[in-house]
Amino acid sequence: MTIIVTGGAGFIGSNFVFHMLNKYPDYRIICLDKLTYAGNLSTLKTVMDNPNFRFVKADICDREAVNKLFEEEKPDMVVNFAAESHVDRSIEDPEVFLRTNILGTATLMDACRKYGIKRYHQVSTDEVYGDLPIDRPDMFFTEETPIKTSSPYSSSKAGADLLVLAYHRTYNLPVSVSRCSNNYGPYHFPEKLIPLMIANALADKPLPVYGKGENIRDWLYVEDHCRAIDLIIHNGKVGEVYNVGGHNEMSNIEIVKLILKELGKPESLITFVADRKGHDLRYAIDPAKISRELGWLPETKFCDGLKKTIKWYLENREWWQEIISGEYKDYYAKMYGDRK
Ligand code: NAD
Ligand code: DAU
Repeated sequence: MTIIVTGGAGFIGSNFVFHMLNKYPDYRIICLDKLTYAGNLSTLKTVMDNPNFRFVKADICDREAVNKLFEEEKPDMVVNFAAESHVDRSIEDPEVFLRTNILGTATLMDACRKYGIKRYHQVSTDEVYGDLPIDRPDMFFTEETPIKTSSPYSSSKAGADLLVLAYHRTYNLPVSVSRCSNNYGPYHFPEKLIPLMIANALADKPLPVYGKGENIRDWLYVEDHCRAIDLIIHNGKVGEVYNVGGHNEMSNIEIVKLILKELGKPESLITFVADRKGHDLRYAIDPAKISRELGWLPETKFCDGLKKTIKWYLENREWWQEIISGEYKDYYAKMYGDRK
């Protein structure tokens, strides 16, 4: 089995590469990644010499490069993680989100049509469903929840999902889609809530909480997400969407306080700043379909996963300190400099 994993130098993609190489020693895993600001080759250093692994630096929108890779590798499957993934960046500058997330997805699927494929899997997000009210804990996103997006990021992901399902109906491309809630764990880029708060707390810098910190996310340890995708590409039904989430809703302020407690830092570091534009209130996934059909259940409890994650950031300072000392500094100044 040969699998092209796009975006494998990013957070979830790299964890998926490790998961697959460990679990299937006879599979060939090809990582195709453009190495944008979010992609990091050092993340993959432990697998670079693995004879079953190949890294190819390319843009998923580059038709020639994608076709060349398909000709060389004749993949059985493509799992598409490659994306612009940060909501705040999409609010500042939507264009690259449309290009990578929509056109890149189409380019990959065109190659799948041209060369043939057993499965094209699209890694999508619960954000395509918009948000849920905070005061309705009985409401969840199911696969039937209408698409209703809030940000340029989620709109680009929703556009991609619709294209993927359309390629199935029109061209009979064997596709599947997973829509997952917020992931956390090792190699999470420090622009995102959990790693940003860990890095700032360790440096005794203010922890910028948007609005009142009341927004709720449904957190899932990244390895649980990787296991879900593994199950879907092997046993999931073609043409289907699977929601992935762990029934683990937490408000942002609760998470930030837990991180401070774990690190022994004072709550006085918390700074409430201007809210995100169009900020989604609450995400909550109903994972009944994937549990029922594929037997998937989350394995990592949030308290254990958060401890493991903090330990990883403490033991791998070099990885994230190198990131935050580079162009990230300009990003941070632009996004947080005079955010009141
Ligand atoms: P990330 O930003 O950490 O990584 C994205 C990777 O894609 C990087 O390695 C980057 O270099 C690569 N990439 C970007 N543009 C590319 C292009 N044009 N061509 C080739 N490679 C390109 O993202 P992540 O958090 O790991 O998310 C991975 C996927 O999972 C995304 O599709 C995202 O929408 C989805 N998702 C993320 C979460 C989450 O909580 N992080 C939850 C649900 C779904
Ligand atoms: O739900 C899945 C989505 O989760 C993925 O599709 C996205 O790719 C991923 O980035 C994530 O999106 P969020 O916007 O939920 O994640 P983020 O870490 O950016 O923010 C989480 C919450 O924390 C959100 O309510 C905004 C808030 N926040 C975030 C940052 C970066 C803050 O309060 N302060 C911050 O500095």
